[in-house]
Amino acid sequence: MAEFREYSAYAVLWLISMILTRACLKLLRPSARRPPSPLPLPVIGHLHLLAPIPHQALAKLSLRHGPLMHIYLGNVPCLVASSPEIAKEFLRTHEGTFSDRPQTFATDYLTYGSQDFSFAPYGPYWKFMKKLCVSQLLGGQTLDLLQPVRRHEIRHLIEMLAKSASAGKSVDISCELMRMANNMISRMIMSQRCSEDENEAGEVRKLVHDVAELTGKFNLSDYIWFCKNLDLQGFAKRLKEVRDRFDRMMEKIIDEHLNDRKQGSGVKDLLDILLEIAEDGTSEMSLTRENIKAFILDLFAAGSDTSALTIEWALAELINHPHILQKAVEEIESVVGGDRLVEESDIPNLPYLQAIVKETLRLHPTGPMIVRESSKECSVGGYKIPARTRLFVNIWAIGRDSRHWENALEFRPERFVENEIDVRGQYFHMLPFGSGRRGCPGTSLALQVVQAALAALIQCFEWKIESVDMEEGPGLTLPRAHPLVCVPVARINSFPFFDRRQE
Ligand code: HEM
Repeated sequence: MAEFREYSAYAVLWLISMILTRACLKLLRPSARRPPSPLPLPVIGHLHLLAPIPHQALAKLSLRHGPLMHIYLGNVPCLVASSPEIAKEFLRTHEGTFSDRPQTFATDYLTYGSQDFSFAPYGPYWKFMKKLCVSQLLGGQTLDLLQPVRRHEIRHLIEMLAKSASAGKSVDISCELMRMANNMISRMIMSQRCSEDENEAGEVRKLVHDVAELTGKFNLSDYIWFCKNLDLQGFAKRLKEVRDRFDRMMEKIIDEHLNDRKQGSGVKDLLDILLEIAEDGTSEMSLTRENIKAFILDLFAAGSDTSALTIEWALAELINHPHILQKAVEEIESVVGGDRLVEESDIPNLPYLQAIVKETLRLHPTGPMIVRESSKECSVGGYKIPARTRLFVNIWAIGRDSRHWENALEFRPERFVENEIDVRGQYFHMLPFGSGRRGCPGTSLALQVVQAALAALIQCFEWKIESVDMEEGPGLTLPRAHPLVCVPVARINSFPFFDRRQE
C-alpha cells in the first residue's frame, strides 16, 4: 500500500512538472521569438519606464537590453531601435513594411481622419502629396520664390535684438526664435505674420500650440484597451473645441484667398498653390478643403518649433564653446565682411557654419524619435514582427553612440569638416531628418532657415555669457528645460547693413 502511495505521489509530481514545463515552454516560446524586453507590469506594460523624457529613458534601457527592444505601451506592441544597423534594417531593408504612422485618437481627430500628409497611410493619396511637396510646395523653385519672406523675418529678429542690445535689455531668445520661425512659416503658408495677435494667424499660432500639447499628451484610451471608449481625461471635449476653432479660422483664410484669386492676384503663398491644385480638373487626385486644412496644420506642427529649437541648441552650444564661436565669426567675417548681413546664398561658402549645424543636429535632433508602424507581418533579425507593431527609432541615442562617434558627447563640429556626412538619411548613424520615402520633406527649408538665422546671430552679436545649462525639457520636439535669456551685445556697432531699400 505504502509503495502504491509512493508511486502515485511520483506520478502526480511527474504530471505537475510536465504541466509546468509545458506552460513554461508556452510562455517562453513567443518571447524567444521576440526581441529582449524589460519586465512589464500588468495592464500598463512598460509605460511607467518612459518617464520623464521617453527618448532618454529608452536610450538607458537599450544599454541594458540591446539595440533592438520589444516593449508594450499598455497593450500596444512596440519595437525600439537604438543602433544604426537596426535602424537601417527597418528604414531601408523593410522600408515598405514600416512606412505607416501610428494613429492616436488626437492625431486622427485633428487631421480630419488622417486626411493630412504626416499621418496619412502610405498609399496613393500620400504618394500624390509627396510628389507635390517635392516638386512644388517645398521644392527648390517655391523656396526661392519665398526667400524674401525668410530674409525679412531674420532681419526683423536681428533688428529687435539690436534694439534690446542698445537699451541693455535682456531678451528671452527662445521665445524670439519661436516667434521668428512661426512668422516665417505662417507668411510662407498664408502671407500673414502670426505675432500680430489680433489677426487670424495669431489665433492659428495659439491653436498650433494647443495641438502640440494635445498630440504630445498621453491619452489612456490609446493604450489601454478597456479605456478605449472611456474619455477619462476629457480629451474628446478639448480636441473638438480646438479643431472647431482651427476649422473656423482656416475656412475664413481660405475664403479670403479664393476671393483674392478671383480678383486676379497671382500665386503668392503655399495656400495659393494648394488652391490652384484643388481647382485643377486635370490633377491626378482631387484635393478637398479638409486635405488642405489638415496639410496646413502639418506644416505648422512639423516646421516651426523644430527649426527654432535647433537654432537655440546651436546658440547654446556656441555660448558654451567660445573657441568654436570665434572660428565661426572669423569664417563669416572673411566670406561676408561687415558691410552687409549674411544671406542664404552665402551658406555654400560657410563650411564651418554648416558643420556647426550638423553637430547640433547630431546631439540635439529636434525630432528625437522616428515613429512608424508596420503594415504587415515581417521578420527582422530572426524575430517575427506582427503587423501593426509600432516602431521607435531613437535617433537621439544613435547620434550619441560611442561605438560610432569618437568622444560622442563632445560638441566638435570639426568631425563634419573632416568627414562630409550628409544629414538626409543616407548615413544611419546620423538621421536628424529621418530616412527614405517617409523622411522629412522640409529638410532643405529647415537647413536654409537654421543656417541663415544662426549665421546672422553669430555675425551681429557677441554672445559672451558665462555658460548655459544643456538640460532637456519634456515635449515632442526636444525643448530646452530652461529658456535662453540674455542681454545681447552688438558685435557691429552701427549695423550699417540695415538699409530698408534692400527689402
Ligand atoms: C530642424 C528642423 C526639422 C527637423 C529636425 C525635422 C525632422 C523630421 C523627422 C525626424 C521626421 C520623420 C521622418 C521619418 O519618419 O523618417 C519629419 C517628418 C516630417 N517633416 Fe520635418 N523636420 C524639420 C523641419 C521641417 C520643416 C521646416 C517642414 C515643413 C515646413 C517639415 C515637414 C515635415 C513633414 C510634413 C513630415 C512628415 C512626412 C511624412 O510623413 O511623409 N519638417 N521631420
